[in-house]
Amino acid sequence: MITYLEKELQMLDNNNGNGERQSLHGNWSSRLAFIMAVTGSAVGLGNIWKFPYMAGQNGGGAFVLVYLLFVFLIGMPVMMSEILIGRRGRRNPVSTMSLLGEEEGRSTQWKWVGALGVIAAMLILSYYSVIAGWTLTYIPKAFLGQFAGADVATIANLFDDFVGSPLAVITAHSIFMFLNFFIIAAGVKGLERAVKFLMPALLFLLVVLFFYSLTSGSFGAGVAFMFTPNFAALDWDGVLTAMGLACFTLSIGMGAIMAYGAYLPQETSITNATVSVVLADTGIAMLAGLVIFPLVFANGLNPGEGPDLVFKTLPLVFGQMQAGTFLATIFFILLAFAALTSALGLMEPAVAWMVESTDFSRRQSAATIAFIIWFFGLGTALSFNVLSEFTFYQGTIYENVDFITSNIMLPMSAVFITIFAAWVMSQNSTSDELNGHGFVYRVWQVLARYFAPIAILIIFMQAIGWI
Ligand code: TRP
Repeated sequence: MITYLEKELQMLDNNNGNGERQSLHGNWSSRLAFIMAVTGSAVGLGNIWKFPYMAGQNGGGAFVLVYLLFVFLIGMPVMMSEILIGRRGRRNPVSTMSLLGEEEGRSTQWKWVGALGVIAAMLILSYYSVIAGWTLTYIPKAFLGQFAGADVATIANLFDDFVGSPLAVITAHSIFMFLNFFIIAAGVKGLERAVKFLMPALLFLLVVLFFYSLTSGSFGAGVAFMFTPNFAALDWDGVLTAMGLACFTLSIGMGAIMAYGAYLPQETSITNATVSVVLADTGIAMLAGLVIFPLVFANGLNPGEGPDLVFKTLPLVFGQMQAGTFLATIFFILLAFAALTSALGLMEPAVAWMVESTDFSRRQSAATIAFIIWFFGLGTALSFNVLSEFTFYQGTIYENVDFITSNIMLPMSAVFITIFAAWVMSQNSTSDELNGHGFVYRVWQVLARYFAPIAILIIFMQAIGWI
């Protein structure tokens, strides 16, 4: 058993001969592996389940436009900041923030920003795992042909019956958390192996569905809904939601990307990696929207259905399609894969922190963290059945956990991360990581210093009612 001190020493010794700091957990084998891993973490239920339902609830076009603006003007600079911080520190988010704070001659108390992120990630995973459990459950439902020819009421009952059963929902949630634990316990190599296989499969399956929706007859209506901005349909709450969703789908503001950055080889360009990841993530969200909305309109369904959108509308559509049983099975496998790769990224920061800061092995740490998250997830699991009437502040337990994490913790943490990278860290350190003082560096600096933190604070205060 390695003690904490030995681990610290090992980390100090652990350099590649150039005096560069190395991570304890090994490095990504290639630039592509890093991009796939981060994309795997970014692409998930956020793109396929959350983006369409939130775009639907907030009127479509205007919400999508604002979301896209946030992705590029806030998401990109924050992601670059996170990766550069992570790579410079090469530890878990908590230790990295504390170490860099000290190294830059500032405070080690910046570690609390790392801690905020780790906690946000755990809270997100607690509900994420429940929804992922739904997708797991829908795989056998699809495979057994339960959607074939079913009408609106049958499909709705199928969902309500399942979600109304605490036992079924908790079982699915437990299976999903176990899968997570299993892959995470194998370490970074396990992560890589899983991601390399899962990501291309996901994209391929989505493209198959896209071609179907192209021929559905309502492709134009879906496109119009997604891209015709109607600003009357969007209030400040909607803007805050779009911002929270942008952070959420890009996996930023919680140290996850920081933890992945810790495994990034020194010579890889952070800017190029960020652009690839953002384009892939946004592209997949748009693709998911372009699959879902035309199908929704072709069948006279309601785009503002809510968290049920994917589960109550798509099976209906699949049920009417030729080869629908086959395609529905593929779709829910796809969704479960996407959720799994994201969940791995949500768990990694806490596990990395525990491995580095306690005597626990990686396996023991993974088991402990998985158990805690599983336990918190029970709140969300029950908020769709026995505790559905138990509401406060934003609504049910699920709605509160989602609101507090996505709309408060992530944006707040994003503000601190940009301030740390762009103001606290010296220009020497940041330009070192971002390859010099060129044009890209200047753009990053302006966005990270001024635009991102100020925009986030204004939107935040508007929505909360402080302005
Ligand atoms: N981006 C993921 C999705 O769209 C969810 C997520 C949020 C995430 N934060 C994360 C995944 C951190 C991994 C790491 O579904």
